[in-house]
Amino acid sequence: MNTKTIINIGELVGIVPEGVERLCGADMGSMGVLRDAWLRIEDGRIADFGKMEDIDSFASLGMTSKMSSRPSDRGPRQLQIGGVKQASGEISDTVIDAKGGMVMPAFCDSHTHLVYAGSREGEFLDKLAGLSYEEIAARGGGILNSSDLLHETSEDDLFEQSMVRVREVLAKGTAALEIKSGYGLRPDGEMKMLRVIARIRAAVPALVRATFLGAHAVGRGYTHEEYVREVIAMIPQAAELADYIDVFCDKGFFTVEDTDRILTEGARYGLRPKIHANELAVSGGVQIGVKHNALSVDHLERTTDAEIEALKGTDTMPVMLPGSSFFLGLPYGRARDFVAAGLPLALASDYNPGSSPSGDMRFVMALGCIKMKLTPAEALAAVTLNGAYAMGVSTETGSVTRGKRADLILTEPGWNLTRLAYNYTTPFIREVLF
Ligand code: NIG
Ligand code: FE
Repeated sequence: MNTKTIINIGELVGIVPEGVERLCGADMGSMGVLRDAWLRIEDGRIADFGKMEDIDSFASLGMTSKMSSRPSDRGPRQLQIGGVKQASGEISDTVIDAKGGMVMPAFCDSHTHLVYAGSREGEFLDKLAGLSYEEIAARGGGILNSSDLLHETSEDDLFEQSMVRVREVLAKGTAALEIKSGYGLRPDGEMKMLRVIARIRAAVPALVRATFLGAHAVGRGYTHEEYVREVIAMIPQAAELADYIDVFCDKGFFTVEDTDRILTEGARYGLRPKIHANELAVSGGVQIGVKHNALSVDHLERTTDAEIEALKGTDTMPVMLPGSSFFLGLPYGRARDFVAAGLPLALASDYNPGSSPSGDMRFVMALGCIKMKLTPAEALAAVTLNGAYAMGVSTETGSVTRGKRADLILTEPGWNLTRLAYNYTTPFIREVLF
């Protein structure tokens, strides 16, 4: 057995009892905190945790009192104490002295488009000169620009380019990642993207989920109706590689009726929806998502009380993407109103070349606090457990819970949740554990 014990944790945050798959309303601020704690990992799973002063529990780790003395002022940060041979095989027992650092669940980013080719820096300059996202798209830029670049890029090259971003977000503390297709916009390109996502899934220790977003924009050479039919025709093949289905249900992209048709076909192939809704207009996307029992409805920059009402009592997670609001200058989602209505809320990065060229979930968490007025504890739930729910992995990861994957961030000494949002650009990660 491979075990790791983290000792001298200043604050162990994000503790949730077993069986809690998401946190709603006032409960979003309720993830537990243990000060001056230890945590034990066995074969990559959280085995147990407790307070350093709790001698009984600590003794149950089988460590000597010398090992438990704290804080250690000398010696290496990570020391091997085990290596005991047993009949069952080798025991590798590692002790990590957190030296007062915080341990928190790693981030769960439930909405990204990080498989793409090239860059859209040219459009960034157009944007700085005053063009809006919709104006850039209407000029043939935007998603279609990325689609052209994708067709010119080989599958291996697309994988390598995307892996640069995957490695970047893993180093920044993301341990669960949803990735969408949607820059292929014709059968060969969409399948190429889904195969690349499958390769990423096999290549990294993080949990990866794939979403088929054929209906991201009308592909070149199709009429609107021809393309909706093409998306429906792609579903059987896409369903072999995708976990979920998405439609950009918004002004200038796909209508509620298109979305209804596409999701109806997706359901026949077992694809649960995750919908792009209410980014550019009050689109009806939330209501059509709820009708199809969507796992999540995402963006929500523009929502009325009707959307909040539509989400009450459903299994659908609202997901807001403050990085897009920041980059595009859109309104921020009404996070406080959603929480006050008793709804759950997740935050995700939307990492993509057009509206959010960053997958930094710590920045997303900070925007959740600074711009959306979430408390640091609520923002933590939004970027961990609720994000995990929005990609269907919350029974596996997203909180400090016995039995879950030990997807954890160990910070440098002195950090706490408030500082994470307050000193929002200061490096804070000492180690990401998987
Ligand atoms: O989530 N809104 C639609 N899709 C992406 C943007 C994709 C792009 O511009 O490349 C988004 O913001
Ligand atoms: Fe998106």
